[in-house]
Amino acid sequence: MSRTAVLVSCAELPSGDGDDDAVVPALSSLGFSVSWAPWDSAFDFASADAVILRATWDYPSRRAEFLAWCESVPSLLNSAAVVRWNTDKSYLVELLDAGVAVVPTSLVPPDSKAAFPSSDFVVKPSVGAGSRGAARFAAGADASSHVASLHAEGHTALIQPYQSSVDTSGELALVYLGGIYSHAFTKGAMLGSTMDSSGLYLAEELAPASPPADAVALAEDVLDAASALLGILRAELLYARVDLVRGGDGKPLLLELELTEPSLGFRQADASAPTRFASAVRQQLA
Ligand SMILES: Nc1ncnc2c1ncn2[C@@H]1O[C@H](COP(=O)(O)OP(=O)(O)O)[C@@H](O)[C@H]1O
Ligand SMILES: [Mg+2]
Repeated sequence: MSRTAVLVSCAELPSGDGDDDAVVPALSSLGFSVSWAPWDSAFDFASADAVILRATWDYPSRRAEFLAWCESVPSLLNSAAVVRWNTDKSYLVELLDAGVAVVPTSLVPPDSKAAFPSSDFVVKPSVGAGSRGAARFAAGADASSHVASLHAEGHTALIQPYQSSVDTSGELALVYLGGIYSHAFTKGAMLGSTMDSSGLYLAEELAPASPPADAVALAEDVLDAASALLGILRAELLYARVDLVRGGDGKPLLLELELTEPSLGFRQADASAPTRFASAVRQQLA
């Protein structure tokens, strides 16, 4: 049985950044004919059996157009409804309200005034990726002009206390495939690092990790709560990446839940991870 799978990218990086290279032969081995295509290209996405978002990193400045395209693709993974919810970091407040341990987050929509934490803090756009528009401020600094510039671009600003554990331990990213834990990796501090040559994301320092039990327990809670809010089963998520940091008390906190286009760290994972991914794609189509 031959089926087609398209890995969806953006015009600047039409075959992604290399992280998904091993996914192509894994999907081929499981009977897929695989190609890459930028989401805004003329590719016939409607005829593909599986349309898999992987490297659509240019959507934040064109979110409405991107979501309209997502809705137009019948076999999109993850689904358009998931992508709509997940491309606005306001979902962090929904997860917080659902009782999940999230980095304290306040939303400042256009026309409202920001209050800044008394510790070091971060201001970032609620719609963003690759650290663009994210900036760190010292305690007591006036970040109003950064908030105003995000507002001028139509963004809601998101304000969080700076989690200094990022500087020492980085972020821990836990990857789930078909709702089941697959592998994990760490990511160094981003704010202060340099932009990749494509200008789409900050170059990241990644390393394989074996996650401690408290981190896995939180990631599991995050997936359960997100699925409940979305009204879906966890198994309906082809992929999910849960990015955790540690708070001042050492306990894990959710920084970001990536259900749209996360790098899944296949270059940091065990050799079977691409096969698990391909198997999870088969499960979505079954
Ligand atoms: N509250 C925070 N404390 C410490 N670092 C942060 C915080 N928020 C963001 N960062 C840094 O900025 C990067 C980008 O922020 P993130 O929320 O992950 O958005 P995205 O990855 O979608 O651009 C993170 O990987 C982290 O290094
Ligand atoms: Mg992130």
